[in-house]
Amino acid sequence: MIINTELEYKGNMFPSQIASYEKDLDTLSFTTENGVILHITVVRDSVLRFRYTTTGIFENDFSYAITKYASRGYNHLEVSEEEDKYVITTSKLICHVFKADLRSAIFDAKDNSIICQDELGFHWEESYEFGGDIVKMSKNAQEGESYYGLGDKPVDNNLKGKRFENWVTDSYAYGKNTDPIYKAIPFYTGLHNKKAYGIFFDNTFRSFFDFCQERRNITSFWAQGGEMNYYFIYGPEMSEVVANYTDLTGKPHELPALWTLGYHQCKWSYYPESKVKEITKKFRDLKIPCDAIYLDIDYMDGFRCFTWNKEYFPDPKRMVQELKEDGFKTIVIIDPGIKIDHDYSVFKEGLENDYFCKRADGPYMKGKVWPGECYFPDFTNPEVRDWWSNLFRELVEEIGVKGVWNDMNEPAVMEVPGKTFPYDVRHDYEGHHCSHRKAHNIYGMQMARATYQGLKKFSYPKRPFVITRAAYSGTQRYTSSWTGDNVATWEHLSIANLQAQRMCMSGFSFIGSDIGGFAEQPNGELYARWIQLGVFHPFCRTHSSGDHGDQEPWAFGDNITDVVRKFIELRYQLLPYLYTAFWRYAEEGIPILKSLVLYDQHDTHTHYRNDEFIFGEKILACPINEPNAKGRRMYFPKGEWYNFWTDELVNGGQELWVDADLDSMPVFIKAGAMIPKYPIQQYVGEKEIEELILDVYYKEGKETSQVYEDANDGYDYIKGRYSLRNFTLTGRENELIIQQHKSGKYTTPYETLKLRIHGLPFKIKTVKIDKVEYSFKDLKLNGDNTLEVHKDFNDLHIM
Ligand code: GLC
Repeated sequence: MIINTELEYKGNMFPSQIASYEKDLDTLSFTTENGVILHITVVRDSVLRFRYTTTGIFENDFSYAITKYASRGYNHLEVSEEEDKYVITTSKLICHVFKADLRSAIFDAKDNSIICQDELGFHWEESYEFGGDIVKMSKNAQEGESYYGLGDKPVDNNLKGKRFENWVTDSYAYGKNTDPIYKAIPFYTGLHNKKAYGIFFDNTFRSFFDFCQERRNITSFWAQGGEMNYYFIYGPEMSEVVANYTDLTGKPHELPALWTLGYHQCKWSYYPESKVKEITKKFRDLKIPCDAIYLDIDYMDGFRCFTWNKEYFPDPKRMVQELKEDGFKTIVIIDPGIKIDHDYSVFKEGLENDYFCKRADGPYMKGKVWPGECYFPDFTNPEVRDWWSNLFRELVEEIGVKGVWNDMNEPAVMEVPGKTFPYDVRHDYEGHHCSHRKAHNIYGMQMARATYQGLKKFSYPKRPFVITRAAYSGTQRYTSSWTGDNVATWEHLSIANLQAQRMCMSGFSFIGSDIGGFAEQPNGELYARWIQLGVFHPFCRTHSSGDHGDQEPWAFGDNITDVVRKFIELRYQLLPYLYTAFWRYAEEGIPILKSLVLYDQHDTHTHYRNDEFIFGEKILACPINEPNAKGRRMYFPKGEWYNFWTDELVNGGQELWVDADLDSMPVFIKAGAMIPKYPIQQYVGEKEIEELILDVYYKEGKETSQVYEDANDGYDYIKGRYSLRNFTLTGRENELIIQQHKSGKYTTPYETLKLRIHGLPFKIKTVKIDKVEYSFKDLKLNGDNTLEVHKDFNDLHIM
């Protein structure tokens, strides 16, 4: 036991010798002589949870991050005792727990190689100011180890040599290396000797990670309170680590409606109604596809949430309906601060029902945001979330708003040090009452969750759409997100690229940046280059702050408009491809964007790459992030890649120059891929899809591709009404074979697949479809390598 004299000694304390061990189903419990208890739960063969207490009892086991749908269960579990340690063996890993000091070490069960090993291991420091412990963990870095993840950190992909803080923060005009910013995702992947593992430190207090910065060979993490509670996730593939983390913290609860993957136009702010209409009309006149238009804070009456400024928007229902008829979905912003105004119904309800956050000694938490002095709902109380969700009835059900954008939910407070609530503010935390120190990082997540509940209820039978700025691990279950108030600079274009990749490898794929930059104004070139990157991000929206000039696709002259249109059109053509990638993410937790290291960790050249990434499964993209560029050098992962624009074939595993004038960007397709495309539409659903285009890229050898489709909205797909095409392509010297395996009960509106074959090394003479031979002349379309086949074919031989 810890005795008082030790408590007074400020410094690190450590577990002592293990005194007892017990096993209860999947949980092993080790108690030391000084009263420290370690619970190791075998969540899956490759996932272990480590949980420590220094007081002899554990607090209530509750986490906002872990989803109730997380997979559990293992194939093998064996525990044995040796002289100096306990040995836990699953089918994937072996974990040693040392008797002398409770340290642990984890090995690959296949080859016994070391994966992750405690240095000091768990230790702690008494928190004099607040009570409880500052909980700490340190581990040895292995030789050549690299680190990835941690959410939205605006830094290079590889985190080695850096220290970070997790404390969600309103960060207007942040820059490269600013830390912390809007999100707290305390999950990283370590990679050494070609093997990857992950650590998710599920602790919502202010936390820190040090990746060999303080000491070159040590990685550590700690938090200002709460428990040392982390999940160890073994790969060895990085994609498995991320998929398992995403399984633990949750995949999106439903697929997004297809239109949400279209292009979105936003500004602070479009008002009055005539301005909104002028913008939407211009999109249609100039034939630039767009699906969503945003109303920022000025649509409200004095920034009161759930109200309208009737001078600017005299009849919102009519306006939203008219926009809808033109294919535009209206999305509105809703912030957490509720204006203190006794004549305002939302404020009155919140007050009467005791829904607002209070300070430790009773007064309300009062803070200034856009509407002036506000109170803030305690979204950690389920009853408050319920109330909040019902506030959306009018907006969504009556007026027809299709999406809600949650902002300032860090929560941001103006004109105070720290830019947020003071530490002492109290929260319900699902009945586990606590202070803001513990609730801060999940406040925005719970607001987005409550908003999601409302949208889900009132949009039904359509799917909900929410965007949030603040997030903690698990927020991806409810909402999409953007990277906050960036700046119109070239550096920020590369930051946006890094952040989107990093969010994807942190389990949160539905992400994008304010295209063109929020603060300041881009020139046409920067805007065009940013759109080029943005169309390859899962969430694709231009947004900017009003006082920096216009930022619509036509604001920079005709040349730029043409480039922007070309790329937004490409996005719309690729919608079935992106939707399939989203389905893979929602089903299996596979990130939509893959940094090269995640795509091929075995190639060490990828470990420090930043700019190149894989969009979905088969498209390699690399933005131009410098002015006046005619192209750039980029690294090609191993394999063969077709230049998307010229069909020229490139061999991977090397760095090469790629031409890319302002109207182009380096985009490559993996050989063997089959890329589904729709025709260009001005908005999703504008056209009935009459055929599915498949761009087929010849390869000598085998490659598989998938196309997922459904009704593009609604929930029928959950009942099996989807269409999944699994293609296997086999290329030989004189033959190309495509096999299709179809599943799902959804009947696609089209009957034919239009195959456009690229890179075919022979001239087509005959085609055999499901064993029936045709002369190519009968199937051939314009062009030598284009043919139409019935969508349900099983087996196609091109000879
Ligand atoms: C914040 C948001 C920004 C929004 C502005 C006004 O700065 O990050 O996107 O436009 O507030 O609501």
